[in-house]
Amino acid sequence: MRRVVVTGLGAVTPLGVGVRRSWNRLLDGHCGIGNVTRRDSRFAELPCQIAAVVPAGLRAEGGWTAEEWLSKSEERKMALFAQYAMAAAEEALEDAGWKPVDGEQRENTGVCLGSGIGNFDEIYNTVVAYEKGGYKKVHPLFVPKLLINLGAGHISMKYGFMGPNHAATTACTTGAHSIGDAARFISSGEADVMVAGGAESCIHPLAIGGFARARSLATEFNDCPEKASRPFDADRKGFVVGEGAAVLVLEELEHARSRGAHIYAELRGYGCSADAYHMTAPKENGAGAYLAMKKALKHAQLRPAAVDYVNAHATSTVIGDAAENAAIKSLLLGPDGMQKAAEVNVSSTKGAIGHLLGGSGAVEALFSVLAIQENIMPPTINLERCGDGFDCNYAPNHPQQRKIDVALTNSFGFGGTNSSLCFARV
Ligand SMILES: *[C@@H]1O[C@H](CO)[C@@H](O)[C@H](O)[C@H]1NC(C)=O
Ligand SMILES: *[C@@H]1O[C@H](CO)[C@@H](O)[C@H](O)[C@H]1NC(C)=O
Ligand SMILES: *[C@@H]1O[C@H](CO)[C@@H](O)[C@H](O)[C@H]1NC(C)=O
Repeated sequence: MRRVVVTGLGAVTPLGVGVRRSWNRLLDGHCGIGNVTRRDSRFAELPCQIAAVVPAGLRAEGGWTAEEWLSKSEERKMALFAQYAMAAAEEALEDAGWKPVDGEQRENTGVCLGSGIGNFDEIYNTVVAYEKGGYKKVHPLFVPKLLINLGAGHISMKYGFMGPNHAATTACTTGAHSIGDAARFISSGEADVMVAGGAESCIHPLAIGGFARARSLATEFNDCPEKASRPFDADRKGFVVGEGAAVLVLEELEHARSRGAHIYAELRGYGCSADAYHMTAPKENGAGAYLAMKKALKHAQLRPAAVDYVNAHATSTVIGDAAENAAIKSLLLGPDGMQKAAEVNVSSTKGAIGHLLGGSGAVEALFSVLAIQENIMPPTINLERCGDGFDCNYAPNHPQQRKIDVALTNSFGFGGTNSSLCFARV
């Protein structure tokens, strides 16, 4: 079986533009969530007026300025999620030192990058313009700016990558599925290198309004946004929508070794499952989540006892966090695993970055890889008082230094789709 390793990382997150910036601010306990009423006055009528937004500013200061990454014409043609994906891909490819020039290398390099929602703003604006002005108001770029697979498409066009080009859209599991599926293209021999990840940008009052109507969001923290996302905490009330992108360069192990690439970790396991239960709610016992993690460990050929760190999906919802916590405990505790819940080390980085929807699985995979690389468990911020049944070690508010050889990262999406990735030190 061909083994798949991670050789490059790129990120645009609410904590900043760039992997280092995002990671350092995560470890320092910063929060990327803020009041968004200034962005669009219509947020003022919503029950939720906060979001995790990529900060504007210069790249050198960790901010987003589109012109620093894209030409004017690229920017005009691309949805914001695709722009973030292009920047994350550029950083990741640079980090990996992968710049294929010959035909065969380009044919063996592909892209798997999805988004959960896609270009919401474009649909909204075009509907409004069409309603007022009819056909002549429909922009020729409407369709290319709308399609979710254009994120992957633009990356392939920029670099000439002619391998598999794919875009999952599985709600909040998109990022994890993209990475897992990309790894399968490599292990099956269809590609040697894959640019894989997820991206999202739908901070629009109608999108946030929709999530609020679905009663998924934290709506009681408009006056203290940085406290709103509080995974595992007794006072958690829902999630906070975020935007951004993360990209991993995945590569076949011998391919990476032969060119002397830096290897962060191996993607050893990938498990997928479905709750087969409800549109938006998980089964209370976490059965779907359990199955995804179990399959990832089976694929990795590792016992539960080998898992040093779990980067939880935990979005800060009452039911979701409890179901996942129950699933993690039932998988990792027992004769083949840990003896006490306090030995199970789990954190959720969503307290700091919110929920990036289709981007979340990719950002969290990236954080899990860095946790292995640096032997640090990133903190769960805003965890002041654990909810009932939350008796694992969640690294509340401060990172914890400890040997981490194996990490699991979970992603669950509306529709009941669950996935788990297992990364390990090579
Ligand atoms: C959010 O920001 C707006 C504009 O700066 C301000 O008027 C409003 O009071 C803020 N909302 C809260 C709840 O702090
Ligand atoms: C988890 O953290 C605790 C300290 O809080 C430590 O004793 C334990 O060994 C860790 N478990 C693993 C699997 O690393
Ligand atoms: C699996 O997916 C569902 C989607 O409805 C998600 O809400 C849930 O958190 C996941 N399952 C569990 C048991 O956590």
